[in-house]
Amino acid sequence: MIEGCRIFMNNLKWWQKTAVYQIYPKSFMDTTGSGTGDIAGITQKLDYLQKLGIGAIWLTPIYPSPMVDNGYDISDYTAIDPRYGTMSDFEKLIAEADKRNIKIIMDLVYNHSSDQHKWFLESKSSRENPKSDWYIWRDAKPDGSAPTNWRGIFGGSAWEWCEERQQYYLHTFATQQPDLNWENPDVRQALYDAANFWLDKGVGGFRIDAIVYIKKPKDFVDGEPDSADGSSAIHDAIANTSGILDYLYEFKEKVFKGHDIFTVAEANAVKPEELKYWVGEQGAFDMLFEFSHSNVMFPTGEIWHSWKPFKLTTLKKALTASQTATAQNGWYPIYFENHDKPRCVNTFLPKGADPIKAAKAMATVLLTLRGTPFIYEGQELGMTNVAWDSIDKYNDISSHGQYEISLNDGFTPEQALEFVHLFSRDNARTPMQWSKEVNAGFTTAQPWLPVNENYLTVNVETEDLDKKSVLNYFRKLTNFREHNEILLNGNYEELLKDDERIYAFSRSTQGSKMYVLINFTLDEVSIQADFLNRANFVFGNYEGSDKRRLRPVEAVIYEETF
Ligand code: GLC
Repeated sequence: MIEGCRIFMNNLKWWQKTAVYQIYPKSFMDTTGSGTGDIAGITQKLDYLQKLGIGAIWLTPIYPSPMVDNGYDISDYTAIDPRYGTMSDFEKLIAEADKRNIKIIMDLVYNHSSDQHKWFLESKSSRENPKSDWYIWRDAKPDGSAPTNWRGIFGGSAWEWCEERQQYYLHTFATQQPDLNWENPDVRQALYDAANFWLDKGVGGFRIDAIVYIKKPKDFVDGEPDSADGSSAIHDAIANTSGILDYLYEFKEKVFKGHDIFTVAEANAVKPEELKYWVGEQGAFDMLFEFSHSNVMFPTGEIWHSWKPFKLTTLKKALTASQTATAQNGWYPIYFENHDKPRCVNTFLPKGADPIKAAKAMATVLLTLRGTPFIYEGQELGMTNVAWDSIDKYNDISSHGQYEISLNDGFTPEQALEFVHLFSRDNARTPMQWSKEVNAGFTTAQPWLPVNENYLTVNVETEDLDKKSVLNYFRKLTNFREHNEILLNGNYEELLKDDERIYAFSRSTQGSKMYVLINFTLDEVSIQADFLNRANFVFGNYEGSDKRRLRPVEAVIYEETF
C-alpha cells in the first residue's frame, strides 16, 4: 500500500469506512407471531448483518407511537413501543451488536410529535397551560378559515382546527403530527434531554428527521397556489428558514459534541453554498441526506402526478454535484433506497432489465461512490416494488394523500393508482424476505403488510446458497470497499459526461485509479474509453468484460496502477 493512502485511511472516522444498514423494524423480523417485526428479531439477525459487512444499523423509530405514520408520530421520546419489545430487549440489542462491532443509530423525529404525546394533550387543553406554546398555534383568519393556504406534505391543509383552544395548530406532515415550537427553549431542552438519554444507553449516532422544517418564518403568509384547490406546498414556505442554524449549533453543542458518534440529518434543499454550515468540522452534522438525485423525476416539487421521466445526464449531474460539494466540505451518505422511496431497480433502471443484474448494477454505484453507503433492508436481495390493485390495500399515509391530490387535480382513479404504484412508500415497506417459507419467513401470523410475491426466488436463504446472487455480490462489494483505500477516500471524477446511456467515473489516489462504468439501458452499448487501455478488470455484474462495449445494465470496475 502506498504510504499516502494509508494516512488517508487512518484519517477516516469509523463511520466513513463502514457501510450502514437501514432497518424498518415493523417489516424486518417478527419473533412473537404478531405480524409485526420486533427488536428481538433484529438481534436474531445480527450474524446475518455482520456477514453482510455493515458496521451500523439505522433503526427507523421504535418509540411508543399511535403508528399513523408508522412511528414517525412519537408519543414518548424515551421509551420503546411495546409492539417492538421492551427497554431490556433494546439494551440486549445494543450489547449483542457491540460484540459484532455494529453500532445502533436512532432516528430523532424532532420537528413534530404525535398528537397523543402528553405535551400536545396538555398544550391543546387551553391557551393558559404551562405547555400552551410548545406547539404552533394561530388564530383563524377573520372568515374562520386556516391561517394560511399551506398544504401539508401528505396532502390536505397543514392546519387543523382545535375546539378546546378555538385555534388552529400547524402540522407539516399528517394532522396527527403537530409541529413542535422550537422557539421555546424548554421544548429544545426537552428534546436534547431525550437524545442524551439514548446516548447514555450507548447508541452510536442519530439520523435526524425532517430537520429543515424546525424553524418557522416570522410571518405566516399564503404561498403561490400550485394545486387546483388553491393550496401551496408548505415546504416552499418553511424549509431552511433563516435562523435555523442557531438551533442546529445548539443541538450539536448540547448533545452530539464530544461523542464518538455520527449524525446524519434528513435535509432536503440545503444550498451548496450553505453546506459548510451543515456538515464537516464546522457544520452542525456529520452528513446529510439530500434529495437531488433521488428526486430527479420531480423537477417541480413532490406531487406524484407531476413526475417526469428523467435523463441519465440529470441523475449523473446530481450525483456529481454532491460528490464535488463534499470533496470540499464534509462527507455524504450514499443512498438509492430508504423507507420513503420505491425500490431503486424500479426507479433508476428500465423495465425489462434482468432483475439480478439490475440490482447488482445499482449496488455497484452505491458502494463505489465516495461517502458512507446506506443499504436499505432488502436492497441487498434485489427486492422490488409491488403494485396492488386498490388504494385500500395501501397502508402508507402519503399514498392516500397523494391519491386524493391526483383525483382533485383531475386524474382518473386508475391514473391515481398508477402514481401510487410508482411512488408509494409501501414499495419499500413490504416484509423482509428471509426464505421460501410462508410469509417469506418474516412472520407466522398475517403480516401487517403483504409480502412481495417474488419472495420464492428473492430471499435470504436461497441467495445465501447461490454464489451469483445479489446478496453475495453485496457481500463481496462491502468487503472490497472497506479494505480499498481508493474507494474509501479516492478523488471522484466524472467521465463520459454527456453520455445518456452510461454513468462512468473514476476514483483515484496517488498511484492508482479505479474506473466504474454502468450501462443504464437495455441495449448493448459500444464505448470509446481510451482511459481503460492500461486498466485491468476487477469485477462486475457479468462474467468477464470487454473494454469496447457494455452489455444491458452491465456494471464494471477496472483498476490501474501507475
Ligand atoms: C421523514 C421520514 C418519513 C416521515 C416524515 C415525517 O421524511 O423519513 O418517513 O413520514 O419524515 O416524520
